Parts: sequence; C-alpha cells; structure tokens
Amino acid sequence: MKLRNIGVVTSGGDAPGMNAAIRAITRVAHSKRMTVLGFERGWEGLMTGTFRPLTPRSVGGILGLGGTVLHTARSPNFETIEGRRKAARTLASNKVDGLVVIGGDGSFRGACELVRETDTPIVGIPASIDNDVFGTDETIGFDTAVNTIVAEIDKIRDTAISHERVFIIEVMGRRRGFLALSAGITAGAEVILIPELKLKNDEIIGTLEKNRAKGKKSGIIVAAEGVGDTRELAEKIEKQTKSEVRLSVLGYAQRGGSPTARSRLLACLFGNDAVELLSEGQEDRMVGLQSGRVATISLEDSCNNEKALDLTLLKLSNVLAT
Ligand code: F6P
Repeated sequence: MKLRNIGVVTSGGDAPGMNAAIRAITRVAHSKRMTVLGFERGWEGLMTGTFRPLTPRSVGGILGLGGTVLHTARSPNFETIEGRRKAARTLASNKVDGLVVIGGDGSFRGACELVRETDTPIVGIPASIDNDVFGTDETIGFDTAVNTIVAEIDKIRDTAISHERVFIIEVMGRRRGFLALSAGITAGAEVILIPELKLKNDEIIGTLEKNRAKGKKSGIIVAAEGVGDTRELAEKIEKQTKSEVRLSVLGYAQRGGSPTARSRLLACLFGNDAVELLSEGQEDRMVGLQSGRVATISLEDSCNNEKALDLTLLKLSNVLAT
C-alpha cells in the first residue's frame, strides 16, 4: 500500500534535536508526495485528535531550536487501554498510514502497547538526553546534554580550585548513568557516581583523601540523580574529610539548548530512515545507530531489553583523574 499520510509525535522528556527530526521527517515525506500531521503534546494529541499539518515551509527555521515545536507531555491516560483505543481511533479516522514516534524508552513502551490497538504502522526515533534506549548507541539529544554538562563543570572547576573545595554536581539520569559517565570522563571528574554501581561513602572519601595526599585539594564528583540524596552525601563527606563540600544540581538546563551538530546529524539520519522504513511498508521498528551506522531493530526488542553501560569507562576515568 502506498503511504499518503503520516503522523509525527514527540513524547516523554524533550531533547535537543527533536525539532531537527521533525524537520527531516516532514521534508523527506513531502519529497515522496506524502502529507504529514504533527500531533501536539505527545500521546495527548493522539487521544484528543489535536494535530496540525506540517509542510516543508512550516518546519523552516527549527533545525537549531531546542525542545519540540509539537510540545510533549507525559500521558498517564495513555497507560489505559481506553486511552490507547482513543489514539487508535484518531489514527484511523484521520487516515494516518504510518506514525513516527520521537522519544525515549518510556515512549517506546507506549508505542509497543499502541501497536496492539491499531493497524497503523509505527516507527520509533530514539530521542532522549538519557541515552538509555536499547538498540541505539546514541540517542538524539545526548551529545548536546553532555556538552551542556561539561561546559558547566568546567566553570564550576574554576571556583572549586580557587576555594580548594569538593563539588558534587548532580546531573540527570533517574535510572541510568550514561549522562554522568560520559560527562564525568570528559570533564575529568575525580569521582563518578551512577545508579548501576553503588559506591560506599568510604570509597568516595578514600579517593578524595588519596588525591588530597597527592596535593589535589579540590575535586569534582559527578552524580546521576538516581544515586540518591546528593545533599546528604555532601554533608557526610564534609563531616568526614578536611574538605569544604558544595552541591550544584544542574537541573533542566541539561534538557535545553540548541542541538549540537552531532545531535542534528542523528536527527536528520533517523528522520530520513524512519520515513524510508514506512514507505517500504515496514512497521513496528525503531531506527538507531549501531557501530556507527544507521540500523533498525523491532520496537518490541527495544522495549524488552536494557541497554548495557560500558563500565570500563569508569575504570578509565579513575586512572585519568588521578
Ligand atoms: O527522561 C529524561 C529526563 O530528563 C530524566 O533524565 C529526568 O530524570 C526526567 O526526564 C525528568 O522528568 P520530568 O521532565 O518529567 O521532570
């Protein structure tokens, strides 16, 4: 069946590069004489039938914009079968021949549920600053967030050195430590704390004391938010060492900003491949980067597997930051 009309939705936490993906999908689809409907606010837009046409002109000027012009949301109602059936009805009544879902692991779990309620082919594009989507080495937005974090850590290191203080820098990553690990190693953090590997306070303090004995009177600890109460950790370290310790929670700045060239490139490649997959009649796939090349896996496989974290990077960071 020749596809004539595809839908696009951005879902879950926003990520820099989502707009670049929307632009790529729209322009590639129009080059194939398809029309494109942009659904607003994630799954809400599908459940309420809220959408607008996307044309090559209407996506002009968004390549370098952070966030998503379609807006996004976390939609608890979509977790109900009634919510998903509403979405399926919206797709059918608007003759949507294929749907592209731009989001993270949570959005793909929703897409996997929707697959069971609709005949509309679905293709996923991994976009999340967390980089925790199985089936792709890298998600859209991850590179931008890492660069944002590293720039902030470089600034904080100036005051850490001046005051001979230890800083705990809390970064995003509720469940996974990809952001903390990549930002930590590239910012030269002395300690990196990730949810996947609980370090004891004594181990953290031991590293700081060893560094101090070598003359390193300041230090940077990068901690994923998922490791626990970083304020409490800062207090404990200060009590048990001679260092002054301060906490800096980077927060939502990590989710914004103009996407880096890398994030834009992934968005262009993934957007193109998603439309190609749909035009070839493929369905229920996710596009991704595997060993440097764009590849695809089934949405189910992406949803049913947990992406491994390369813990050898942790060992390397310890050596590099001595
Ligand atoms: O999923 C990306 C993410 O930024 C996580 O790293 C973070 O913990 C979460 O979203 C925050 O969610 P919300 O935007 O709903 O507060």
